[in-house]
Amino acid sequence: MSPMRTTPDDPSPHRFVVVASRLPVDRSEGPGGEADWRPSPGGLVSALEPVMRESGGVWIGWSGDAGPAPGLFRANDLDLVGIGLSAEQVRDYYEGFCNATLWPLYHDVIAPPEFHRRWWDAYVTVNRSFAQAAVDQAAPGATIWVHDYQLQLVPQMVREQRADVRIGFFNHIPFPGYEIFAQLPWRRQVVNGLLGADLLGFQRRGDAANFLRASRRAAGLVTRGSTVRVGDREVRAAAFPISIDAAALEQIARRDTVRKRADEIRLALDEPHTVLLGIDRLDYTKGIPVRLRAYGELLREDRLGPRVVLVQVASPSRERVGAYRVLRDVVEQAVSRINGEYAEVGSAPVHYLHQSYPREEMAALYLAADVMLVTSLRDGMNLVAKEYVACRYDESGALVLSEFTGAADELTGAFLVNPHDIEGLKDAIVRAATISPADARRRMRLMRRRVCEHDVAHWARSFLGTLASGSGPA
Ligand code: F6P
Repeated sequence: MSPMRTTPDDPSPHRFVVVASRLPVDRSEGPGGEADWRPSPGGLVSALEPVMRESGGVWIGWSGDAGPAPGLFRANDLDLVGIGLSAEQVRDYYEGFCNATLWPLYHDVIAPPEFHRRWWDAYVTVNRSFAQAAVDQAAPGATIWVHDYQLQLVPQMVREQRADVRIGFFNHIPFPGYEIFAQLPWRRQVVNGLLGADLLGFQRRGDAANFLRASRRAAGLVTRGSTVRVGDREVRAAAFPISIDAAALEQIARRDTVRKRADEIRLALDEPHTVLLGIDRLDYTKGIPVRLRAYGELLREDRLGPRVVLVQVASPSRERVGAYRVLRDVVEQAVSRINGEYAEVGSAPVHYLHQSYPREEMAALYLAADVMLVTSLRDGMNLVAKEYVACRYDESGALVLSEFTGAADELTGAFLVNPHDIEGLKDAIVRAATISPADARRRMRLMRRRVCEHDVAHWARSFLGTLASGSGPA
């Protein structure tokens, strides 16, 4: 797919503007060295594509590589604007302020956040580039939807230039309690940046409440119910739990090729009695070491029987950030230790895959698993839990789910755990692995109803409907 550039002095006809850290396409090099953009299918783009098409939308984002701005182009039948980041901006804004300051801070300081003034300056500059692109692309009266912690200053930066537009912001990760947020030297600027929006969406009610408290404490503003008064404007902060395209994923899981692949996976694992599965980005928020610890102890205590296997997919992520490198060593040592102690020639109790897979292979893995393990120490939502549920169309399987995920509010049929409580986690894994088919069906049916009814299209409709009406969510 080659980029179709428009001239820089084109009018700005877009009535709907999505501003997100990443573009919904990946860049690769064509045969003549030209940019070749391939769709990177994600929940967000599948939810927003229909709105983008109906309303003449544009998506502003970054390609993920250092380099000049690709500007306005068309790929996958969408209008896209690529923001350029220099190598220094990737280091200071993306790896630094986004992923070594905000990410650990917003995940309850599981890793210590670093505060550097140079990183903050880069954050301001990059947010300004995104905001300027939004201002340039938005038609009069347009709706602009800004996403996530990487772009918290964009709402205010846009509002300073464009009083005519409606601005929504959705935070995909947790918003921390004030005692933690208060550590941020630029807390007031961040709160004011967000308050440029008309509507602020969070994953859980607690996140919205934390933000309202931060508005009072860090910015000295008055809140009433779910609204903050900012001059003559009222800004609303509420929960809109994100979801997945459940029907599309279920369709993939139902394909003959995918079901056959699930059988092949079990066969390759030597037809174990129980397959436990973890699928995560290799991130310290996901609680992979505690999961391995619990599993290792269960093997030692022989509580899962002899024919059990854990498949752990840990997809590479943010590999240049220090805490992620440390985590990789910790996880890989733990895996080696368990396999060293309990493997036999030809069979290993942990299959560790430091790779990323296409959706079809993920669906096959979900189908092949008896028990899905989600043990995050902190997680805005955790869409893997919802994906597992969407794939289990025959209502079998069990989910062990950390109560520190947004998904725990909705997936009440899961075995909820406190991942810090190793004994409790072990008990939950044993209960999930030995569940009766009838109990599994009852729990899975409950979870599937929730995920199928509250899918990502429902989420987008609910947020955009609330933004358009200016009223509170249902
Ligand atoms: O969940 C937060 C998030 O930033 C997502 O937007 C993104 O898909 C994921 O984490 C991976 O992040 P990165 O863009 O740093 O690879």
